[in-house]
Formats: sequence, structure tokens, C-alpha cells
Amino acid sequence: MSRVKCEHCGYVWDYRGRGVLHTTCPRCRLKVKLPKEAVGRRGAEPGVQGRGDLVNRVLEDFGYDGDKLIQILIRLQKELGWLPMEVLREVSRQLNVPLSRIYPIVTFYKAFSLAPRGRNLIRVCMGTSCQVRGSQMILERISNLLGISPGETTPDLRFTLETVNCLGCCAIGPVIMVNDEYYGNLTPASVTKVLERFGVKAPSLAGGVG
Ligand code: FES
Repeated sequence: MSRVKCEHCGYVWDYRGRGVLHTTCPRCRLKVKLPKEAVGRRGAEPGVQGRGDLVNRVLEDFGYDGDKLIQILIRLQKELGWLPMEVLREVSRQLNVPLSRIYPIVTFYKAFSLAPRGRNLIRVCMGTSCQVRGSQMILERISNLLGISPGETTPDLRFTLETVNCLGCCAIGPVIMVNDEYYGNLTPASVTKVLERFGVKAPSLAGGVG
């Protein structure tokens, strides 16, 4: 922790970040140069330095406000694609919010992931409307093609497969989302074509299944 004084408004506070040259004054919101001892901590955790810088930046953007914990976690999830434990520990440390409060949040909301996610996120709707239209077959086809179960990521980090309860477009079920795109009225054959667009090969389907 370092004592920092804002050169603009004179406000003094305890800076708990590490590894950046500047920070933002919590009072006047102007950029403030950090003292040497704060910057000198750069490299204290070489394996996580990039993530540490990101945490600092995000916390500064939200004014180190513990009441904005969920928004902070959403931003970190968006930037990193997942929430590594060392990131959660750093958020906990700098906000002075116990991990026991952070952990239930990141495990409750599906938007958060505690494991690396693939570059392509596939969400299969398993809501009632999609289920009666065959979403189970769609899920099984995708699962077979990728070789993973729901909640898993392919070893090459290309795909993560998830199920959701409704994607909000029940009339065109069964529906999946790949990243931000919706695909509806699917059959096992058509979902195979969708995945082929993302480079998935389906050699086992030579017999024309689906
Ligand atoms: S139940 Fe599948 S989109 Fe609503």
C-alpha cells in the first residue's frame, strides 16, 4: 500500500494497486502520477502482471466502489473471458471485500466463469419450448461433434458449450447461440452445418445422419 497525494486537488489516499504508472484520483477523477514505491512493485507477481494491471484499471474506472462489485466482475469477465482466482483475490484485497462475498456471486450468475472459456461460446437452449422441438438432439449432436459435455471447453480453447433455459425466441426453437448470433429451427443436420462454418469437421456424419 502507498500513500498517494493528488497533484490537482490535494486529496490523499492509500493506493493499493500495483504495477501502473498512473492512477485516478478518487475525488477529482483526474490522472495522478504514482510515487516510485508504488510503481516499483511492478513485477511482484510476474505470472499475473497483465491481469494485475487490468484489475487496477477496472477498479479505478469504478472508483474502488465495493457497491459496484457486480459491474466490476462483469467488466473483468468481459476483458479476460473468465475470472481466474488470483483476479478475484486481488479484487477482494483492493476493495476490502471478503472472498466469501465474491465467490457466491460468480458461481450464481451464468455470465461468470471460473474456468477458461473457448473463443466461441455455444449456448444451447434447453427451455421447455425448445425441448419439445428437439433441443436434446441438438445438444447431443453438438456435444458429439465437439467431444465435450455442457459446461466444458475443448482442449484447444476453440469452443465452450453451455445450456441455457431460454434465449428469448421460443417461436424459432430449437435455438442455439454461437457468440452473438442466433440459429433457429435447427435439426441435427442443420446444426452440423452451423458448426462446420466454425471449422468443425463432421467425418462421422458421412452416412447422412439427421
Ligand atoms: S425456450 Fe428456447 S428460446 Fe425460449
